[in-house]
Amino acid sequence: MADNLRPESLQRITTPELAKDFIDEQIAALRNQIGGKKVLLALSGGVDSSVVAALLIKAIGEQLICVHVNHGLLRKGEPEQVIQVFKNQLGANLIYVDAVDRFLNKLVGVSDPEQKRKIIGKEFIDVFAEEARKLDGIEFLAQGTIYPDILESVGVKAHHNVGGLPADLRFELVEPVKFLYKDEVRIVGLALGLPESMVFRQPFPGPGLGVRCVGAITRDRLEAVRESDAILREEFAAAGLEGIVWQYFTVVPPFTSTGIKNGKRTDDWMVIIRAVNSIDATSATIEELPYPLLYKIRDRILSEVAGVNRVLYDLSPKPIATIEYE
Ligand code: XMP
Repeated sequence: MADNLRPESLQRITTPELAKDFIDEQIAALRNQIGGKKVLLALSGGVDSSVVAALLIKAIGEQLICVHVNHGLLRKGEPEQVIQVFKNQLGANLIYVDAVDRFLNKLVGVSDPEQKRKIIGKEFIDVFAEEARKLDGIEFLAQGTIYPDILESVGVKAHHNVGGLPADLRFELVEPVKFLYKDEVRIVGLALGLPESMVFRQPFPGPGLGVRCVGAITRDRLEAVRESDAILREEFAAAGLEGIVWQYFTVVPPFTSTGIKNGKRTDDWMVIIRAVNSIDATSATIEELPYPLLYKIRDRILSEVAGVNRVLYDLSPKPIATIEYE
C-alpha cells in the first residue's frame, strides 16, 4: 500500500512550469524502468491514456506500441482524432483495430445494462489480448491509472472494473500518472502539447455510447445517439460551454412515439438531452441552458438526425436520478 501513496515530495502541479519539471522527471524515470524494452498501451483517446501515451512517446518513442480499439460505441470523430494526434502529429507506433462489427454483433438483443457492460468489457480485453499476442517482445503494460482510481477503491470507476488481461499477458506495469489528480493530469497533457479538446474532454463512460442507446442496441438507433451527441457538442462549443458544463450528452430510449412530417404520421425515436454539473459524479445538478440554445439544438436534431421526431430536456438531478440512464 505504501507504494500506492502519493509521495510527500511530489509537489502539487498547478502551473506549466511545474508540469515541465514533472515531465522531465518522469522521462528519466521511465527510461530507467523500461531501458530498451517494449511497452504496450490501450489508447482510448481519453485524457488519462492520452497523457500517458504522450509522455511515453517523449521518453521511449517507437518502443511504445499503442493499440486503439474502435468498439463502435465511441463518439463521432473520436477514432479519427486519436489517429490524427498520435499517429500523424506525434508519430506514435499506433495499431488501429476496427472491432465495430465484433462488438455490435455480440450486443444484439442484449438489453440488461450490466450484461451490456460485461460484454463490452470482456470483448475489449479479448481484442486487446489478441493484439498483444501478435506482438513480440512486449515486457511492459502502460496504464492511465490516476490517484483517485487508487483512492476510490469503492468509487465510481471501481464498480465498472471488468478485470485485467489473461495470466499469460501479465506484463510489468508502467503507471506514470498514478499519483496525479485529474486537474494535474490535464496540466501535464497541455504541457505535452496535446490539443485542448482532448485534455479537457468531459467524462465519458468506458462502454461509451452503448449505455446511452438504452436497452438492446441497434445500429440505426446507435447512429441517432452518435449524431445527436455530435450536434449537442458542436452547439455547446459554439455557445462557449465546452469545458464549462461538466458532462453533457444525448440519450435515445428504445421506444418510439407518434409525430407528423409532410402531412404523414411518423413513428420515431426521441432524443433526450442531459447536461449536468458535478464535482465528482456522486451528485449532480442541472445546467440551466438558455431556451434559444435548446431550440437551436432541437431544430438541428429534428432536421439532421434520421428517425427522430421529438427532443426532450432532462431536468432530473442526481440523486434521485443517476447521470447516465443505465
Ligand atoms: P451515474 O450514471 O452512476 O454515473 O450517475 C456517474 C459517472 O460515471 C460514469 N459512468 C461510467 N463510467 N463506465 C465508466 O467508465 C461505466 O460503465 C459508467 N457508467 C457511468 C458516468 O458517465 C458519470 O460520469
